[in-house]
Amino acid sequence: MAESPASTEVLGPDDEGIERAAAILRAGGLIGLPTETVYGLAADAENDAAVGGIYSAKGRPSDQPLIVHILPGWGERYAAAWPAAAQRLAETFWPGPLTIVVPAGTRASRRVTGGLPTVGLRSPDHATALAVIEALGRGVAAPSANRYGHVSPTTAQHVIDDLDGAIDAVIDAGMCRVGVESTIVEIAPDGSCNLLRRGAITTEQILEVAAPASGQVADRTEGPVRAPGMTLSHYAPAAPVEIVTEAELTARLDQLDPTVLVISERQVDHPRSVVLTGDVEFAAGLYQALRLGDDPQVSLVLIVPPSSGSLTPAIRDRLQRAAHREGPATGR
Ligand code: TXA
Ligand code: MG
Repeated sequence: MAESPASTEVLGPDDEGIERAAAILRAGGLIGLPTETVYGLAADAENDAAVGGIYSAKGRPSDQPLIVHILPGWGERYAAAWPAAAQRLAETFWPGPLTIVVPAGTRASRRVTGGLPTVGLRSPDHATALAVIEALGRGVAAPSANRYGHVSPTTAQHVIDDLDGAIDAVIDAGMCRVGVESTIVEIAPDGSCNLLRRGAITTEQILEVAAPASGQVADRTEGPVRAPGMTLSHYAPAAPVEIVTEAELTARLDQLDPTVLVISERQVDHPRSVVLTGDVEFAAGLYQALRLGDDPQVSLVLIVPPSSGSLTPAIRDRLQRAAHREGPATGR
């Protein structure tokens, strides 16, 4: 089953689909798995060959670690150390869009961690994903189910568009609720906290639960790449992406070519535009809208990020990476 399948089966999010997905995973295959953030490209986390298949299906360098998706009570199974702060975060936010990086245990395939001494764990807040993990009885390694460097998928069709024939099946459970990938926080054995990626769980929420004593969550989302894969150029559609302010958009609107796609919170007088109002709707619809920039008839994607809301820092982060094109620090 790890051989390249000819075409990808589409499964329903019902008992039959869940059983079929678990059987494929048990046999070492790959499936597209819906979660509340984005669709994942899933394999049995304890099967070396299957985990290796993720990297080839996605075209991802094998030194970039994968998140292991688990049931809420399974943290300690895959960790060599499970600090009290990790336990508090898991109790508070799992299942949910938070990945906790801790020292790696020996149970997951070494290929999951890309040679790092740590492992990223997350329990997705999605009934179908949890049912598949439960049916398999093991953690499921999964990066986002897109071709490496491309925009993450928030529908089963996005997964098919990127990976048809490269994976055995995808479970179609409709559109993902959150729309941007999980927050990633690293908890050192001494309990200190590093934020590695922004997401729906905010720094303030993490601070309150994980570090009430020290009062510190170090921001490691910029600068040297702490979470390999958090390269500057990522989440990019075929057309270039440019971030503009509301005022800049208004100034350019008159001369805007019809091949330009505009994404903004406010309705604009332009034939090719997507309106996403408020940070929650913006996050949920962002990747779907960015993928419209893969249409060869789109010459440029102009985006005005949302102005406020707790998801806005995560949205801005993804947009900056989508807009980034050249430079020595890149690598899609
Ligand atoms: O919401 C999500 O997190 C989605 C869904 C499918 O769960 N997954 C996801 O996976 O975004 P991926 O592979 O596209 O991004 C995972 C990020 C990568 O930047 C990776 O470097 C980081 O997590 N990561 C995983 N394990 C790590 C570790 N041990 N230390 C540091 N970063 C790690
Ligand atoms: Mg990804």
